[in-house]
Amino acid sequence: SHVTFIEANGTEHGVDVDNGVSVMEAAIQNSVPGIDGDCGGNCACATCHVYIDPKWAPLTGERTQMEHDMLEFAEGVEPNSRLACQIHMTAELDGLVVRMPESQH
Ligand code: FES
Repeated sequence: SHVTFIEANGTEHGVDVDNGVSVMEAAIQNSVPGIDGDCGGNCACATCHVYIDPKWAPLTGERTQMEHDMLEFAEGVEPNSRLACQIHMTAELDGLVVRMPESQH
């Protein structure tokens, strides 16, 4: 499925990844700057903080409790903030658009 990452400065990175891969892994596999994934996707670092494009929010679902708690440590959290390691690509999410926070670059 296709994911578009948009950096805080507006630079776009479009990548294609297999379904089942997390949005964090999609960024790492394609060297997209702004997503570090320091904890390896364990919902324990918040370096994969992204903003979900409003159009996609209904499809990416709700934060988990653990994700919600970890986001307390992230900067610039908005209602559409998610941890990219907690969202896994599906055919339904083909075309997903996420933005990176200013603090991650
Ligand atoms: Fe650490 Fe997502 S990679 S919280």
